Amino acid sequence: MSDNDFMKHSTGDLANFPPEVDMNTPTVARIYDAMLGGKDNFEVDRQAMAAIEEANPGTVDLAQANRAYLTRGVDCVAKAGVRQFLDLGSGLPTADNTHQIARRTHPDASVVYVDNDPIVLAHGRAILAETPRTSVATADLTDVEGVLAAEDTQRLIDFSQPVCLMLVSLLHCIPDEQDPFGVVRAYFDRFAPGSCLVYSHIVSDDETAARDFTDRIHSFGTSWGRVRSPEEAAKVFDQLELVSPSSDGTFDPVPVECSTWRNDGRTPEPRPADPEVLIWEHAGIAFKH
Ligand SMILES: C[S@@+](CC[C@H](N)C(=O)[O-])C[C@H]1O[C@@H](n2cnc3c(N)ncnc32)[C@H](O)[C@@H]1O
Repeated sequence: MSDNDFMKHSTGDLANFPPEVDMNTPTVARIYDAMLGGKDNFEVDRQAMAAIEEANPGTVDLAQANRAYLTRGVDCVAKAGVRQFLDLGSGLPTADNTHQIARRTHPDASVVYVDNDPIVLAHGRAILAETPRTSVATADLTDVEGVLAAEDTQRLIDFSQPVCLMLVSLLHCIPDEQDPFGVVRAYFDRFAPGSCLVYSHIVSDDETAARDFTDRIHSFGTSWGRVRSPEEAAKVFDQLELVSPSSDGTFDPVPVECSTWRNDGRTPEPRPADPEVLIWEHAGIAFKH
């Protein structure tokens, strides 16, 4: 299937969804799809997007910058030799998806997409049926055993070889009670040395801004966690080794604002240069040794 076919199949028809797709409550996958200019969303999702953007101008740009970071991140780890990807909270198919990015470097790359929103499977299964070494499943990332033991995961991923775990714009969806950072450790405990993490997380260094943003998402009835501080979000890198956020390796290996991560012509910045920007996406890539 060509990239054009992929896009054509992934957009348009909103009828015939399974009953578990709730069309009356906005979901993160569909709000994010709307922010990326996709068509796999409903009026409630577009209203939520407008409300978020009005209260927090720049959020749509932030979503787009995050997606561009995902592309650079997958490209980077593929070029470092990783051929297997477990893309958790993958979201709806969009213009350039993990398997398409990875296969520019490794035409035989394997990708398992996992998302807990049933709309992702409704769109993804039909599309990926014709794409070898790729699968999509509905599952909750906190069910580590369930995700790893699933038939498609076992068929496509060789756990004796490095795996790229993708948690891109995802852990802020997970409340503290579900121990998001412990869940990540549980995945890495099962992975071979050389495995890596492609990561971003919505953060703020201003408690009021973080609380307001979090409360707004919860006010839609949408399942979500919270905006965390950059220090909290960086807990994910415990026991992993960050790579430099600059392509030439000269910048210290720290998490940075996602649009400045290995983006040629941009100097990596730990937070947005504009002090008035209080919410951003904190990003980094790290390896298990
Ligand atoms: C903001 S989107 C990010 C999509 C994609 N990773 C990206 O960065 O372009 C977050 C995705 O995580 C999914 N998600 C949220 N909580 C999840 C959970 N507990 N398990 C699996 N997926 C989850 C949402 O349905 C949504 O599709």
